[in-house]
Amino acid sequence: MTNRQLKTAATGINGQLTVPGDKSISHRAVMLGSIATGETTIYGLLDSDDVRNTLGAMQQLGVTVDWYDDRVVVHGRPLTTLTEPDGPLDMGNSGTSTRLLMGLLANQSFPMTFVGDASLSTRPLARVIDPLTKMGARFVSTNHRLPVTTMPGFGLHGIHYRLPVASAQVKSALILAGLQAEGETVITEPLATRDHTERMLHHFGVDVVRDGQDIIVTPNTALTGTTINVPGDISSAAFWIVAALLVPNSELRLTGVGINPTRDGILRLLRRMGAVIELDNMIAEGEPTADLIVRTQALQGTAITSEDIPTAVDEIPMLVLAATQALGDTLITGAQELHVKETDRIATVTTQLNKLGANIEAREDGFLVHGGTPLHVEEPTVVDSSGDHRIGMMLAIAALLTDGEVALANADSVSVSYPSFFADLERLVED
Ligand code: S3P
Repeated sequence: MTNRQLKTAATGINGQLTVPGDKSISHRAVMLGSIATGETTIYGLLDSDDVRNTLGAMQQLGVTVDWYDDRVVVHGRPLTTLTEPDGPLDMGNSGTSTRLLMGLLANQSFPMTFVGDASLSTRPLARVIDPLTKMGARFVSTNHRLPVTTMPGFGLHGIHYRLPVASAQVKSALILAGLQAEGETVITEPLATRDHTERMLHHFGVDVVRDGQDIIVTPNTALTGTTINVPGDISSAAFWIVAALLVPNSELRLTGVGINPTRDGILRLLRRMGAVIELDNMIAEGEPTADLIVRTQALQGTAITSEDIPTAVDEIPMLVLAATQALGDTLITGAQELHVKETDRIATVTTQLNKLGANIEAREDGFLVHGGTPLHVEEPTVVDSSGDHRIGMMLAIAALLTDGEVALANADSVSVSYPSFFADLERLVED
């Protein structure tokens, strides 16, 4: 595979952009639409590799899906009428597809085997297998990694479960299993994680209750098909927000971005670093959205701790990049979950950004980022996404700030969440 030459030393990033649909919300729209009565019409569904994996799995289980230019229509069928797939369910690179579907499909009357790519096959699944097994599900795997086979179910029962790690994927898997279980399921979160599953279930006519850090699930699989508008993905917007702050002479308007308070930590943390990010055209119902307006601005270093991580977990690589350009140091702690993302992001962020002249120390649970380091390469340099979509896009933004020649290896990985990323970059960046 050839390396992709990156734009460097940008002199401005300007204009207006609608980022693609939210990946987390897109997965949930497809899954819930698949088991609802009647049709679910989804506007703004993210068309990316990860979401295609969820769609493909539901289609293998007998759900029909129609794609139109402006929408996707999912023809749902009750969970008890899904049909045995003709082969393994291929999850590709998608941890969200895997963990949520293991919960959703924990009580089928036939076996199913989940497989994934090399990266996904190293990621930990004990975090879903253990509690789902306590609920009565049965899985066969080696070392709690993919491939995993879900055995035919004999019924699930509710449990009280305290999540050992703050994880929306695990919480969601247990909610989806809890809806099919006998008795109540109570899930206690150490810190609040993204609540898209809970909000979307409400939209399909099924309520789960939040009481402090507890989520209480009462059995109910009577979802009713509906219409969903997927907001722009704040995790994709994060690349442009940081780019506009750091590249000189920039002003960007990002339209219709999801600003759910369990997802918008990047905005809070950048504001803590001194950024002014304006919100316009706010819509508060359902999944709240707004246009974000961002201009070039000087930032200061800050401290980011474990309480900050869940609402910004996927944006830490961009916050590290922002911190390399801030005045003073930034210490990030409590971010050990980054070791088990699409790559070990503590390692990949540190190694790749340091190749461009950053001064970042990897820590067991985060980073010490020395600020005020101009990015610069003496000779043509290849950075590597290492197959991780968010690392690839972060490095493309880092290159905009770098003097010299930079190429990106494994650039194709951006299609996991943002297939049009490089086209947007070409359009918005002045060089
Ligand atoms: C996601 C939850 C997070 C996040 C991932 C998407 C979700 O993972 O990193 O990209 O859609 O629920 P964890 O649950 O492992 O924190």
